Amino acid sequence: MTDRYAVFGHPVSHSLSPRIHALFAAQTGQDLRYEAICPPLDGFAPAVMAFIAAGGRGANVTVPFKLEAFALANKITPRAAAAGAVNTLSFNGAEIHGDNTDGAGLVRDLAVNLGFSLAGRRVLLLGAGGAARGVIRPLLEQNPATLFIANRTPDKAQQLADAFGVSGGGFDALANQTFDLVINATSAGLSDAVLPAPTFSADALAYEMLYGRETPFMRAARAAGVRVADGLGMLLEQAAEAFCVWRGVRPQTAPVLAAVLASLQSA
Ligand code: ATR
Repeated sequence: MTDRYAVFGHPVSHSLSPRIHALFAAQTGQDLRYEAICPPLDGFAPAVMAFIAAGGRGANVTVPFKLEAFALANKITPRAAAAGAVNTLSFNGAEIHGDNTDGAGLVRDLAVNLGFSLAGRRVLLLGAGGAARGVIRPLLEQNPATLFIANRTPDKAQQLADAFGVSGGGFDALANQTFDLVINATSAGLSDAVLPAPTFSADALAYEMLYGRETPFMRAARAAGVRVADGLGMLLEQAAEAFCVWRGVRPQTAPVLAAVLASLQSA
């Protein structure tokens, strides 16, 4: 019987995950079906249980259900515990295994696709919500020289920084600091809101976690002559990591990225 997987989100119709995982399955010769499920906002857990009862083997979880997925799982990986959120579920009998592949996806996109080595670099993480929290531990595992967390609401950055033993504060704390990598993990780009411009080093990289739109953060970095990447690579890599967790084989992301980019451009 064909194994079933799904992405749970609300909304979810825009999700690229079904296309990405179908391409991964074709590439690796894995027999699986992957669909998109949009439970009611108060119906995540019952929808997952129904999917398991119908033969579901695993699921990706996106906005706004990552915290509920964390609560639903009865076994949590250390990286999901550090993220405080789950984006990948595996079902095995009564066991609901919760993992988080977002941070690994970001680190792999940086290291492999963008050729950016984090070791010894000065990193600025903008934002202190779930997206920021999810990537801190994997970033620190790459031994950057510093990781500074800056947020519009300084207290939230400070709390997150304290939890991970790094420095943090408000945007005003960015004066007199220079960064080799600036990661925008805020949702400011969704409303075209402008963030304060940090100071970039000469060969810096500006990384926007959103994809599919040119955000003010990306425009400002380009205007400053800085190399820019968006979050499509991270999306592909977190998906590949989830696929690997489920199926034990790592798909190649480059051809899938090219196919997804082509379909986005012709849409
Ligand atoms: P997510 O799970 O995507 O991180 P979230 O938990 O709602 O979503 O967090 C959104 C993040 O974007 C927060 O860091 C938020 O800053 P505040 O903590 O001050 O709310 C940040 N953010 C959203 N809109 C912003 C804006 N216009 N300017 C600056 N930061 C913004």
